[in-house]
Amino acid sequence: MEERERWKRRSDFIFASIGAAIGLGNVWRFPYVTYQYGGGAFLIPYFVALITAGIPLVMLELGVGRIFQAGAPQAFARIRKKLEWIGWLALLAVMIIFLYYSVIMGWVWNYLYYSLKLSWGADPKAFFYNNFLKLSSGPGTLGAINWAIVIGLALSWLWSYNYLRRGTKSISKEIYWTVTIPWMILVIMVIRGLTLPGAVKGLNYYLTPNFKALLNTGPWLAAYGQVFFSLSLAMGSLIIYSSYLPKESDIANNAFIISLADAGTAFFAGFAVFSTLGYLAQTMGLEVPNVISSGFGLAFITYPTAISKMPFAAPFFGVIFFVLLLTLSIDSQISQVEPFAAGFMDKWKFARKKVLPVVVLFGFLGGLFFTTQGGYYWIDIFDYFTCSFVLTFVGLMEAVIVGYVFKASRMREYINEVSEIKIGKWWDICVKFITPIILGFSFIWEFKKVVTKGYGDYPRWATTVGFILVLLLLVLSIVLMSIKGKEEQ
Ligand code: PFF
Repeated sequence: MEERERWKRRSDFIFASIGAAIGLGNVWRFPYVTYQYGGGAFLIPYFVALITAGIPLVMLELGVGRIFQAGAPQAFARIRKKLEWIGWLALLAVMIIFLYYSVIMGWVWNYLYYSLKLSWGADPKAFFYNNFLKLSSGPGTLGAINWAIVIGLALSWLWSYNYLRRGTKSISKEIYWTVTIPWMILVIMVIRGLTLPGAVKGLNYYLTPNFKALLNTGPWLAAYGQVFFSLSLAMGSLIIYSSYLPKESDIANNAFIISLADAGTAFFAGFAVFSTLGYLAQTMGLEVPNVISSGFGLAFITYPTAISKMPFAAPFFGVIFFVLLLTLSIDSQISQVEPFAAGFMDKWKFARKKVLPVVVLFGFLGGLFFTTQGGYYWIDIFDYFTCSFVLTFVGLMEAVIVGYVFKASRMREYINEVSEIKIGKWWDICVKFITPIILGFSFIWEFKKVVTKGYGDYPRWATTVGFILVLLLLVLSIVLMSIKGKEEQ
């Protein structure tokens, strides 16, 4: 049998996993979801989600990858043959994510160019929606493909291809700088944000808890969705990375490092965004919650505003900021493509050389849909349905399968055998009860809400399309399970 690829050093793995975790999810998604759910109202569910599901599931996934030495489908198949589809469902969810994630990277490439001249001018909001996206009237009108975004999309895919070409070898080579650089610019953005007039207003909105809002289920499901997205959980990324670990590698300590680095970065990035939002509110004479109608474009509006306010060398700050957004997202992007491609390499023993170009081409072509004038709405809809339903479901199943079928105590003993930090029975409780119950409840509530009210302000048929997408992924995952793999033939 062919030798499995390996990380050379522990730090290769940690950096790759932190790189997977920290990405647009921290700097773009976390702030806008927080904004959408009322700022401080969202932070409590977020941290609860991190502790009750995030960290325990990072440990679980690292354990699964290490023990079974395979990506998600094969790993679950080794627990029970009939469970393989859960792994495929994770990979199909991650496929949807990489299709639109690379388009957002395409936006960033454009903004990198715009920042040379601060092309967004005095009104970055109007620039983003009207001049750049040329937004159509709704998801029903796709309009034309935006070629500028297509160029960015192509660049992202070429970069990913180059990054993944030689597997762990090429990843380890690039990962160090694409993980460390982004942090420096964040520090600069936060300092700039905090010194803007009105910043306090924004921070109040960000940090003041709203206990009443905790009674709603919306922020809870969004919080679990965000934690999953940000930690790259339930998508096979951590499982595949951990399957490349050498024997006896630590799990618990690595899990804490990865989770805390990720949450810390998101929380920190929030200061940059919300201080700037406070500033925007002040200059526009509005309250913070009314500054932006849809939170989705937040990072592309507030950061440029902050950049324009730089007292000197604004284009320089613009360029480095968008370079850093790119370096931040590229290692997340590859951590989405790798498990997907590896799913096929593991099951059908296809060579990386053959699978990777096909996946890259597919990713590029599929992404074209999101580069249209209506693409923006579809990113929002696909993101919502994938993260809120598919990922929550996969996470729930992971917890149930490891908790009850494989047995939580067995996994904990295994983790403790190889880890510096020993985890206690609390872990079993999180995996067997807390995570599945909360995920199950949130899932049902959100489902009920969306079925009765529809998602967002979109026409009802858009919600139907969202559900069709979820169903399609489900069916496809079962089809992929049923096709015989190489070793089974
Ligand atoms: N965690 C990444 C982020 O926060 O940007 C996004 C991501 C990476 C999602 C890997 C999915 C994934 F498999």
